[in-house]
Amino acid sequence: MKLANILKSIAIATALALFAGAASAQKVEVLHWWTSGGEAAALSVLKKDLEGKGVSWADMPVAGGGGEAAMTALRARVTAGNAPTAVQMLGFDIKDWAAQGVLGNLNTVANKEGWDAVIPKALQFFSKHEGNWIAAPVNVHSTNWVWINKKALDAAGGKAPATWDELLAMLDAMKANGIIPLGHGGQAWQEATIFDAVVLSLGHDFYKASMMDLNPEALKSGKMKEAFDRMAKLRSYVDDNFSGRDWNLASAMVIEGKAGMQMMGDWAKGEFLKAGQKPGMDFVCIRFPGTQGSVTFNSDQFVMFDIKEGGDAQLAMAASVMDPKFQSAFNVVKGSVPARTDVADTDFDDCGKKGMADLAEAGKNGSLFGSMAHGHAVPAAIKNAIYDVVTAHFNGEYDSATAVDELANAIDAAK
Ligand code: BGC
Repeated sequence: MKLANILKSIAIATALALFAGAASAQKVEVLHWWTSGGEAAALSVLKKDLEGKGVSWADMPVAGGGGEAAMTALRARVTAGNAPTAVQMLGFDIKDWAAQGVLGNLNTVANKEGWDAVIPKALQFFSKHEGNWIAAPVNVHSTNWVWINKKALDAAGGKAPATWDELLAMLDAMKANGIIPLGHGGQAWQEATIFDAVVLSLGHDFYKASMMDLNPEALKSGKMKEAFDRMAKLRSYVDDNFSGRDWNLASAMVIEGKAGMQMMGDWAKGEFLKAGQKPGMDFVCIRFPGTQGSVTFNSDQFVMFDIKEGGDAQLAMAASVMDPKFQSAFNVVKGSVPARTDVADTDFDDCGKKGMADLAEAGKNGSLFGSMAHGHAVPAAIKNAIYDVVTAHFNGEYDSATAVDELANAIDAAK
């Protein structure tokens, strides 16, 4: 081989090695709980976006709606000194990890791209620690929704319920029509998700006082007894096989018309879309009766752990997640709405447009609250105490009066 050619080969080999080095640095390992059909479809929008930017993806899915199992897996990884690069996280969990000093700092990209001006303060409360950006919010979900099968709705009179009494009338009509009125999965976080909406339906001041401020009077009030009574009433519309069922299987029951409706956050919409259904035609989305104008929200944020290598990939991922085009494309599929306030609703379906309008209105009117069930009202220890009581009551272990007492006690003990 001529010297020139040898030099050329060496140059090419060096360039390839450098490229490989850069490519391996541009890699993220992402821990998340997006494992249902709709969630996986949204996740692949993110994966493709990153891969298009030369950032490769190592997947660490931990199934389990609401993310409890994912958080357990995360603790094990961090304890073993092997934190993943990026982690899907909710509300107070972000604050807990930030307080432990193990999260990376995203200020470079946040300041360069002006996140402060486009992320609502209610989200920044969770995305920042001591003034530094430590998480990138990808979306805003909300929990006070009901997803109704359109045919079942029409067969039950056709008018979507706007009050508690209208809701019960519709559930009764669905029962009379021979379907399971309420598709539900018996897991504590799913019962807690309904509880968010039920408490909110008794007044947004009541939601704030009880679920966020943990005001003892509100917790022990007659309204709280009524909230539990409403939960017991809803339980009577669920089929016998609900125990342990995953949320997306309950969505499937509504999609297939076996059940009339599901009370669930707007990630459920992702399942309807994945099944090829269209809002207004195949299914209808309404706010839980009595909660129109108020929103209990949760935001999926990506937290970057402070790991030795991979900082560039982390910043690249944070920048991607916050890109306005990406926020539209991802949330159209996920069922959520953009975390940024400057993304147009053009590409969203009617439920998405409604979600965006409701969020803006609730933010303006002071009726936007963090979801208890999804970690945005109180820290995990208290959330779990509430879960235990709500689920025990739903499963018939306590009557409503006992549940009220147990709730106040469990919260006190968890404080
Ligand atoms: C998350 C959603 C997810 C849902 C069900 C919620 O806590 O915010 O992104 O789809 O759990 O898994």
